[in-house]
Amino acid sequence: MSGVRVCSVSDVRVDQALRVMVGDVAVAVVRDSAGEIHALGDKCTHGDISLAEGFVEDDTLECWAHGSRFELNTGRPLTLPAYEPVPVFAVTVVDDDVYVDPAPKRIDA
Ligand code: FES
Repeated sequence: MSGVRVCSVSDVRVDQALRVMVGDVAVAVVRDSAGEIHALGDKCTHGDISLAEGFVEDDTLECWAHGSRFELNTGRPLTLPAYEPVPVFAVTVVDDDVYVDPAPKRIDA
């Protein structure tokens, strides 16, 4: 099994992010409305704000501070003021366990 076990599937409520640690890195784990689980860097690229405290909406995670919305699949900001992406991590689900690969996924432009 590659990745670090971070939580149970049942710990991640639909449309609400959960902040977990993968080694020294804070990660926001999100279950979208379709039930798919995603993992993004927890720190907003516009400021020192936990994205897990934000809002999950339409396959995005929105920073509560100034409203930048990050795509769950790519980490790209869809709205300003953030303009740098957050890292995204591969997620594996085995039974009720969620594993996150500690190496960020490569997202091609
Ligand atoms: S700190 Fe996240 S959008 Fe400003």
